[in-house]
Amino acid sequence: MVKRKDAAQPAAKSPATTPPTAKVAPPQQRPPAAGGVAEQQQPSKFRFATLLFRIASLAFALYTLYKRMYPPPSTVDLDLDNKARIRHAPIERDPLRQDAVLEAFKHSYRAYEKDAFGSDDYHPISHRGSNMSPAGPVGYFLIDSLDSLLLTGLTDEYRRARDWVEKLSFDLDDKFHTFEITIRVLGGLLSAYHYSGENDQMLLDKAVDLADRLLPAFETPSGLPMSFVNLAQRQGIPDPDNRGMTSVAEAGTLQLEFKYLSHLTGNRVYRDKVEKVMEVIRAQPSKDGLVPIFMTPDTGSFVLSDIRLGSRGDSYYEYLSKQYFQTNRTEPVYRQMHQVAMRGIAQHLVKKSTTRGLVYTSELLPRRNAATGQIELVDTPKQDHLVCFLGATLLLGVTDGNTLPVPPDESQFDEHETDDWYLGKQLIRTCVDTYVETKTGLAPEIVYFHTHPNDAKKYGREWFINSRKPGPDQEPPIDARNILRPETVESLFVAYRVTGDPIYREWGWKIFQAFEKHCRLPGGGYASIRDVDELPVRHEDRMETFWISETLKYLYLLFSDADVIPLDRYTLNTEAHPLPNFTPKYW
Ligand SMILES: *[C@@H]1O[C@H](CO)[C@@H](O)[C@H](O)[C@H]1NC(C)=O
Repeated sequence: MVKRKDAAQPAAKSPATTPPTAKVAPPQQRPPAAGGVAEQQQPSKFRFATLLFRIASLAFALYTLYKRMYPPPSTVDLDLDNKARIRHAPIERDPLRQDAVLEAFKHSYRAYEKDAFGSDDYHPISHRGSNMSPAGPVGYFLIDSLDSLLLTGLTDEYRRARDWVEKLSFDLDDKFHTFEITIRVLGGLLSAYHYSGENDQMLLDKAVDLADRLLPAFETPSGLPMSFVNLAQRQGIPDPDNRGMTSVAEAGTLQLEFKYLSHLTGNRVYRDKVEKVMEVIRAQPSKDGLVPIFMTPDTGSFVLSDIRLGSRGDSYYEYLSKQYFQTNRTEPVYRQMHQVAMRGIAQHLVKKSTTRGLVYTSELLPRRNAATGQIELVDTPKQDHLVCFLGATLLLGVTDGNTLPVPPDESQFDEHETDDWYLGKQLIRTCVDTYVETKTGLAPEIVYFHTHPNDAKKYGREWFINSRKPGPDQEPPIDARNILRPETVESLFVAYRVTGDPIYREWGWKIFQAFEKHCRLPGGGYASIRDVDELPVRHEDRMETFWISETLKYLYLLFSDADVIPLDRYTLNTEAHPLPNFTPKYW
């Protein structure tokens, strides 16, 4: 529960001296009879009352300023088992909060449209756009925004954006990231096509053209994709920074987009390419469903590397159950892979913090043991914000693609469902903790958990931001940033839809307010911040595309009716583009 009434209290404490002009106090705090009483008072008494009122106003103003500079410690209810809380009201639109999110969306998109329309990246402080390649824009930002414009009813903006897409050419002679272009641009085109009532053929034609230019990425001995592709030359390019290796998230997060395209066009080739990737991954040995982050496209085998749920690993795990849901549960192999992976995560990666028992996930890093010379997997208590998708994956997995009654009858769950349900809720709670325990109320990119109870006590938090250097004017570490990421609000949205527990809306609202307070730019747009523990904040001149396509979309959906993008009929890709589930006709 969010407690926000503290700031109004000083004014309310002196009702007797409040004259009729008490504009500082919020209207509901004004005593109803005060006006009439003040007018009948003696002149000297009235002056005295005015003086008292001025002093009270000044004190209140100072107090408000103080509160703003030094916000109180977290008052967010993190107790998931608090039975006293009113639980499970029916899922209905919350118009006030949804309108606030809509206003933030307009403030963001309209700034982009004014300053940088069509550009791949947006810099809201310098009011300019930039492209990833000198060859020209690829629709990175604009196409990523299309379905959000439709969802929020910004039809004029949508029409202008759609007309821009019509003139866009993907004949760009430069290398582009296979995975990023697939999830943002191909995914954005496909969901916009769906929401056009599957009528706007131009969008489907663009999607086909783009996918055909991406297909050469799969021309490797194993069928695993190369990380880059030249869209004009239709040529795959191995990742020069990682000795040509591809990460498991890059390879395993193309399936929803390519399979839906095959379903729409009747052309199997897209599905066959991405299905082959899954077969290659499946043929490799895994550690109870956990896989290292790197693979070689030459051989199709894993390379000794980190096992983690953050960057380069994350959405591989997200897409297992989603592939099962997307094709209407006709491919049970993905249900199986999901369940094995979730067991592996619970067994090898899930940990509890030392004092407050927050559940988090760690990473396993291969290191050579100096004494034995053997390679060992060393447990590292590091959790990326990216990992916060996992709560949603666990909870959604338990529904098996159905709409369960809200709240579900937990006594009907089997042992594994009970585990996943509990784990999903606990991981989300921990992610929320990484927001509410910072000075800004915003989570850092990466946290490490204390492994010794004394440290948690000494530093006052269960976790810390690594490599922070002492001293006043140090550059903040890269881990301390908040770049408007969506994963926690994504999990809050899913958790609210499947549990009906209003605590998820309260947490989401709290997070939204922190974005409003610290990231919103008066001149338009929102900006990343460099250090979540620094007040006042320092902005970075960047508004990521996922702020529009994911973070604000998930917040908007958190406060919507349950029949807006129902989760038993839609599967959201990893960039929050909703794609309808279907029964395969062509394979
Ligand atoms: C999913 O499968 C069920 C049962 O076979 C069927 O009734 C339903 O129409 C299918 N849904 C879609 C979207 O294909």
